[in-house]
Amino acid sequence: MDSFEWNKIFGAVLGTGLLVFGLKIVGSGLFSAEVPAKAGYAIAAAEAQTADAGGAAGGPKLSLGALLAKADPAKGEATAKACQACHDFSKGGANKVGPYLYGVVGRPMGKAEGFAYSEGFKAMGDKAWDYAALDQWLTAPKEFIKGTKMAYSGIHEDQKRADVLAYLASLSDAPVAFPAP
Ligand code: HEC
Repeated sequence: MDSFEWNKIFGAVLGTGLLVFGLKIVGSGLFSAEVPAKAGYAIAAAEAQTADAGGAAGGPKLSLGALLAKADPAKGEATAKACQACHDFSKGGANKVGPYLYGVVGRPMGKAEGFAYSEGFKAMGDKAWDYAALDQWLTAPKEFIKGTKMAYSGIHEDQKRADVLAYLASLSDAPVAFPAP
């Protein structure tokens, strides 16, 4: 074969390579085009939540009362296993890294006997834990009480949080009624 033949062969191989490469770029372009589309939905959902949190009427988000009405304390207990690293839930339970939580619903904030709370808790004054406050607290502890030393990021699913609240409600000699749906 003379060099002209070789050139044709090289040319063909190179051309095929470029074609494959080109297809890959186009392909990955198509593929990556889906990513922003998904991110777009996530943002839309987050915005919907923010709007609801701001008190907008309607929308698919259920009220706390409605979430509690269908809450499952057994599921809440399973989720609350993560709390037990720091909290005792039993009646007469002791303080651990965090305060004991038996009877926490309706209890004054930051008043478990013998527990040294952070400054943020002291600033809550005489407020008591109702379901709405516990719901906000467990959504994002550090936003609800600035400077809290509870190192827990929060439970971000509404129903999952309501299940935990229903479990906390059961840890009481006189359970506090759920708010109306
Ligand atoms: C890493 C340890 C840790 C984990 C995990 C944790 N907590 Fe706490 N929790 C604390 C600490 C510490 C405090 C006291 C915070 C302060 O003083 O700022 C606290 C405070 C609380 C209080 C306020 C009690 C009161 O007496 O006012 C509630 C309610 C609570 N936690 C619920 C929970 C629940 C429910 C979970 C699980 C979903 C959980 N915590 C997970 C450490 C933890």
